[in-house]
This record gives sequence, C-alpha cells and structure tokens, in this order.
Amino acid sequence: MKRTHHCNELRPAHIGQTVTLTGWVHSRRDLGGLLFLDVRDREGRTQTVFDPSDLPNALFESAAALRSECVVRVTGKVRQRPAGTNNPKISTGEIEVLAQSLEVLNMADVLPFPVDDPEIAGKVNEELRLKYRYLDLRRPEMARNLRLRSKVAGATRQFLDEQGFLEVETPILFKSTPEGAREFLVPNRREPGTFYALPQSPQQFKQILMVGGVERYYQLARCFRDEDQRADRQLEFTQIDIEMSFIEREDVYALVEGLLKRIWKTALDIDVPTPFRRLRFEEALNRYGIDKPDTRFGQELADFTEEFRGSAFKVFSGAVAGGGVVKALNAKGLAGATQGQIETMTEYAKSFGARGLAYIKIENGEWKSPIVKFFSDAEKAALTAKLQIEEGDLILFAADHWLNACEILGKIRLYCADVLREQGKLTVDSKRFDFLWVVDFPLLSFDKEQNRWYSSHHPFTAPVAEDIPLLKSDPKKVRGQHYDIVVNGVELGGGSIRIHQPDVQKTVFEEVLQIPPAETKLRFGYLLEAFRYGAPPHGGIALGFDRLIAILCDTPSIRDVIAFPKTAKGVDLMTDSPAPVPPRQLRELYIEVKSAKSP
Ligand code: AMO
Ligand code: AMP
Repeated sequence: MKRTHHCNELRPAHIGQTVTLTGWVHSRRDLGGLLFLDVRDREGRTQTVFDPSDLPNALFESAAALRSECVVRVTGKVRQRPAGTNNPKISTGEIEVLAQSLEVLNMADVLPFPVDDPEIAGKVNEELRLKYRYLDLRRPEMARNLRLRSKVAGATRQFLDEQGFLEVETPILFKSTPEGAREFLVPNRREPGTFYALPQSPQQFKQILMVGGVERYYQLARCFRDEDQRADRQLEFTQIDIEMSFIEREDVYALVEGLLKRIWKTALDIDVPTPFRRLRFEEALNRYGIDKPDTRFGQELADFTEEFRGSAFKVFSGAVAGGGVVKALNAKGLAGATQGQIETMTEYAKSFGARGLAYIKIENGEWKSPIVKFFSDAEKAALTAKLQIEEGDLILFAADHWLNACEILGKIRLYCADVLREQGKLTVDSKRFDFLWVVDFPLLSFDKEQNRWYSSHHPFTAPVAEDIPLLKSDPKKVRGQHYDIVVNGVELGGGSIRIHQPDVQKTVFEEVLQIPPAETKLRFGYLLEAFRYGAPPHGGIALGFDRLIAILCDTPSIRDVIAFPKTAKGVDLMTDSPAPVPPRQLRELYIEVKSAKSP
C-alpha cells in the first residue's frame, strides 16, 4: 500500500524517477486516446497519464472504468509535461506521471455532490454537505481548516507548556449546577431519578485545581450548552481553558497576548502588536453600542443628551426628562437610502426594542427629515460639529434609557457598515485584526422580570476590591474583575479574577444572588468547603477555540472549522442524531417518555 511520494511533492527534479502515488481520482479527462487521471491526496494532486499504446489492454480498461473519488495506487515514471500543457495553478503542474501499473483499491459510487470543482462545491447546500461530511472534508478548504485547527492546537499546547502550564482533563460527567445556559442531563442507571450534567465549562473544576495546588492549568476543553444555535454557537464546542494562581488581571492579559501572538504568527505569519488596547465596558457601549466592538471602522456613537434636554422635539426632550439619553451616529455615505430602506432599518431597530429611529439625510445641501423643523440652530450646530456632518451623510438617532439607546445604535452601526460594504463604500482589510480587552464590566445585572440581580458573567467573578463594601448596599455600582478579549467584533473569550474567600463567595450566592442557603449548599457546597482549606488567589480565562479558528480561516461559521458539527436545530445529519432508543434501554434508566403533547 505504500506510496513513494505524496501528491504535492513531485517537481521537475524528479523527472525520470519511477514513483508510486496513492489517493483519490480527483478528475479524469480523455484526450486524443490518452486518459488523464488527476490523483489527489491530503497534500495536493498530480496528473497521471494512461497511454493505451504503452499498456496491457486490461490495465487500460480498468483505468478507463474509474470515476471520480475511486481510490487508486498508480506507479509510473515522472516526465516533463509537453510544451504548453503546464498547469501553473498547482505546484506539481510542470510534471506528470506516465502510468505503468494501476491498483484499484476501492470503487466509488456516483457522488451526491462534486468535490473536485471548487466553484460548484462551494455552493452546495449545507445540509447535503453535513449529511455527507466525509466527502465535504475532502474539499481543499475543509481540509485546510482542519489542518489549521490541528496546527493551532499544537502551537497552543507548546506555548502554554513553555509557560509552565499543566494540561489536566476534567470530567465530562459532571453535576447539574444551573446557572447560565441550559444543561444536558445524563440519567444515572444506578440510582433512579439522579442525573449527571455535562459541563458548560470546566469552571469549577479548574478553580478546585487551583485549591489542589496545580497553580497553572490549561485544557482544550469540550463544553456543552443547550442553547439556541447560531453561526458562532454550537451545542458542544471547545475552549482553550486557562487558570492560574497568585496572579492579577495584568498577568492574564500578558499571557493571552503572548498566546495570541504565537497563534497568529504560526497560523498566518502575522506579527500582532501587543499590548492590546483596553476599553472600559461603559466606553465600549458609549462609543460602539456593544461590549464587543468592531473597531476596524469609525461611525462611532455620539451623545446629545445635554443638547436636547430642552428641545422643542418632544421625543428627545421627553426621553431626557425621563432619565434617558439621546444618542446619534453618522452613517457616512448613506444619504441615498430610500424611504423603504429607512423603514426596514427602523423595523430592525424596533425588533431590538427601539421606539423609533429618527433620521436626517444630508442631500443636495439640505437636511431632509420630518423632524428637523423642530430643531433650533444651536441644536443643528451641535450635531454638525460633533458628527462632522457633510453632504451624503445619514444621521440616525435613538432616544431611550442609556443601555437601550447604546445597544440599538450599536446594532444599527453594524447594519449600516454591512450596507456600506455591499455598496463598496467601506472596505476592511482582511488581514487586519483589531484585538482589544473590554474591562470594568458591572459585576451584576438586574433582571426586571424576576426582580433580582444576576451575575453578568458567572458567580465566581471577584468584585473589584474597593467595591466589595457596596455588594449589599449598592450592587449596581460594583465592578467585576472580569475581562473579555475581542477581535474584529467577535467575543473570542472571557475570564476573571475569582473570589477565593469563602465568606465573600457565600455572600454573593446568598445575599446578592439570593440563592437560598440550602440550595447554595446543595449546588456549590463542595466549592465553598474547598475554599476553607487554603484557596490561593486565582483567576483565568477561556477562549472559544472554534471561534478562534473560524477567524483564522476567515469563515463566518464555526461549522466550517468543526469536523462534525450540528445544524441550527442541533441535529447531526450524518448519523441522524438525536434518535429514539429502544424501550428496554429507557426502562433500565427508569425513564418513561410521555408524548410531547401530554402535559
Ligand atoms: P464564557 O461562557 O464567556 O466563559 O465562554 C468563553 C468563550 O467560549 C466561547 N463560547 C462558545 N463557542 C461556541 N459555541 C458556544 N455555544 C459558545 N459559548 C461560548 C466564546 C466565549 O467567549 N468558564 C468561563 C471562562 C472563565 O471565566 O474562565 C466561560 O466559559 O468564545
Ligand atoms: P413620532 O413623533 O413618534 O412620529 O416620531 C418622529 C420620528 O422620531 C420618527 O422618525 C420616529 O421613528 C422617531 N422616533 C420616535 N421615538 C424615537 C426614539 N425613542 N428614539 C429615536 N427616534 C424616535
């Protein structure tokens, strides 16, 4: 079965040598009585030529019977391609192999979609690609993605190993600790009615490893979250999970900057400048309307609360009187938007809770808008100055509570950027990576419906030390020692310095998050107990590995960098999972399935 060379190896220097290649029939052409078979393996492809005048009949016929994706072993002599037939698109394009023998290792049925034509293959419906994933994985782009993923995993391990980290595996069969996303439960056959849960992340285990004296832990960890799927979310995904003892935030920043620098150099040969920019959560929202800003283009939000406090335009002055703000952004070059397009944008804003989307178009030297008639000269002058208004601009407003106003315009900012990109008015260099740290998140957020505080990130995040006294008196003001790493508008990862004092952790669970003491004990008792036996100060981070690879591969969907992903509905189309199980198996687990419709 052995090959002498792989299919991306032969060059003019090999001319005259007898070689053996193994692989798949990538394509075949019959030309002037000759049969050309391109043989492809993981590395590339090589043209082989079958000449009937030179070969036994049976051999030529078996070659002629081959179709795409049959598996073959070809032995022959390397020769120069005839003048004018070089293929500069492939690196073996100057030579070909004149076949002397052929072994058909396996035949292939007619394929459900072609894998040899990048034009067609790129347009194949994704469900079909997922059903026949093994064929999809043969496509060069997918093969490249998997290879890059493996390379980056290797570079990550090497880097962290150099920094003194230990790779430790943590359990997949964990315990239900509902907080955050919905969990996957695993019934326990040994004790009816009890369940394991799959971990949403190794968070608690990695903290306990710090109590266990490991000091520097990492893991390429599989995580499970039963949440709605999107292009950047899967039910199971991988994190580069990191935890360190005796450190502060700055140590995590420096470590991750070093790691990402190494990864970008290894994967793309790009030197990423460090240290990364830092942006406070509040500033990120004020300027970009989102906590994971894409800073590769401007169109920043500006605040006009003071300017419109006493405005004749009641929508604005009324919002300010109610404690809200007025914010605006300048979508440069979009004045040409039609009424229909502005309606669409308004509906889009409304889907995020906006009450409206006031606008001004600057066209033919005029401010066109149903609301400009209410504006004073001073208000117009303030807009012109702060938004640097000029011909061709489209100004959009949100008047609302601070967070709402920011978030609405943040979505509109991205929407406008997409439109401008489509119109060719905004170009973003595909080699540009704007890394930044978002810091100083509020520790807690308020849930109006449930009338209680919940952790902005997770309940193990330490408050900024000087804010600890405010935990009970003024929770809204408490900043968390949390940080997110963002690149080009994607949240790549997040982490924090943790609470390591059992009393502070107990206060957070019971008095701030209002988890009843009995429940705290049941869910987190082991962690609180562990903290009582000498827990070192510690902190860490987790980077979404699939998202990281998707960015490096320049693909919008993490499905393209996962060998066997699930669809948006959580289905594995190839194995047809999830699937029913026989009653016997259910009985063994003491499980009875009621029909979905029964109460
Ligand atoms: P967090 O929940 O922010 O933090 O997750 C860290 C990173 O994991 C990635 N990620 C996902 N990727 C694909 N599919 C998903 N469903 C998905 N969910 C999250 C994101 C995210 O930034 N234990 C903490 C980390 C810590 O505090 O150290 C945690 O899991 O890129
Ligand atoms: P109205 O007076 O409600 O007809 O609104 C006048 C304009 O202001 C319309 O273009 C609305 O879309 C817009 N508008 C209404 N409420 C808001 C708001 N809270 N923020 C921004 N624009 C608004």
